[in-house]
Amino acid sequence: MSDTVGAVPCLHDAHGRQVRYLRLSVTDRCNLRCLYCRSNARTQSIPHANVLRYEEMLRLVGIAVRLGVRKIRLTGGEPFARKGFIDFLERLRSGFPSVDIRITSNGTILEEYVPRLRYLGIGAVNLSLDSFRPETFARITGREVLSDVLRALDALLAAGIRVKINAVALRGINDGDLGDFFHFIREHPVDVRFIEFMPMGSDTCWSEDNFWAADDVLAAAGAYGQLEAVARGDDEAGPARMFHVSGARGRFGVITPLTNHFCASCNRLRITSDGWLRTCLFADREYYLRGILRHPDLGDANVRNVIEAANLKQPLCVEILRARGSGAVAHKQMLGIGG
Ligand code: 5AD
Ligand code: SF4
Repeated sequence: MSDTVGAVPCLHDAHGRQVRYLRLSVTDRCNLRCLYCRSNARTQSIPHANVLRYEEMLRLVGIAVRLGVRKIRLTGGEPFARKGFIDFLERLRSGFPSVDIRITSNGTILEEYVPRLRYLGIGAVNLSLDSFRPETFARITGREVLSDVLRALDALLAAGIRVKINAVALRGINDGDLGDFFHFIREHPVDVRFIEFMPMGSDTCWSEDNFWAADDVLAAAGAYGQLEAVARGDDEAGPARMFHVSGARGRFGVITPLTNHFCASCNRLRITSDGWLRTCLFADREYYLRGILRHPDLGDANVRNVIEAANLKQPLCVEILRARGSGAVAHKQMLGIGG
């Protein structure tokens, strides 16, 4: 259902949540092989013909913006791994000057683009960085490119672009690294968020042993600084529970998809790189927007109708999680969804 809030159009879902945030995955390809992002089962990349063309993405964004979306996050795979991504960003910015555009990246190939990101007024970059130690980084991502990520991080900060670091909490793998993250936020105005490992995709390496629950992360974090909860309602926090740390310029936080659902505040639509609309990370129900976009007899109104209808059927992921038992929460792996 779309409605107006004041004079601003707004999409509401069945739970009364306003939908103002679109996550758009521009590719399922990535130059890293993060162990939490892939299932063990060999999976094929999406054939090029099925990946949305940039023109189609711009059209979709236009429809979403007319429905009230105000913030767009570009994700992957690795967005910068797709040819022409920076030109696409430029077109997105000029077509939608007032939209808050953000990017999630692994940072390995973005340093050279930092001046253009700054010029385009990109609101923030979320960097996936699970460890500051070269061996641990390589163990998690499969590649020895930590130094490239750290150079990108420096360049983003020097350019004054807001940075958030996402680290997936992995017991037995990066649970000895918290001190490095606290050392970093003492010096830099960056939000670090530890995310609970979600068992996405069939045959993932998720286990009770490597799952490091957010409460345990926070208990361990107490050894590195005094944490004071940031008041709820901080727009920048998103689904994270953030904490000020005494004496630090940055903040520390956790994202708790498994131990503490955040459905009530979830206000996002997700579009996969092959043009499926997904209203919840954990629900495999998807809607085939690509077919509508490419159908000669169908137009923007049809796309809009599907987005509105899908939104009204939006599940609460907490119900899906309850039903999960100990199995995977979704069949699709993260690469195909874009986080
Ligand atoms: N569990 C938790 N977080 C994940 N990410 C990717 N896969 C998983 C998973 N299985 C995170 C990465 C990345 C973001 C897009 O999603 O940290 O920053
Ligand atoms: Fe690539 Fe990000 Fe997945 Fe790692 S988590 S493999 S960087 S898409």
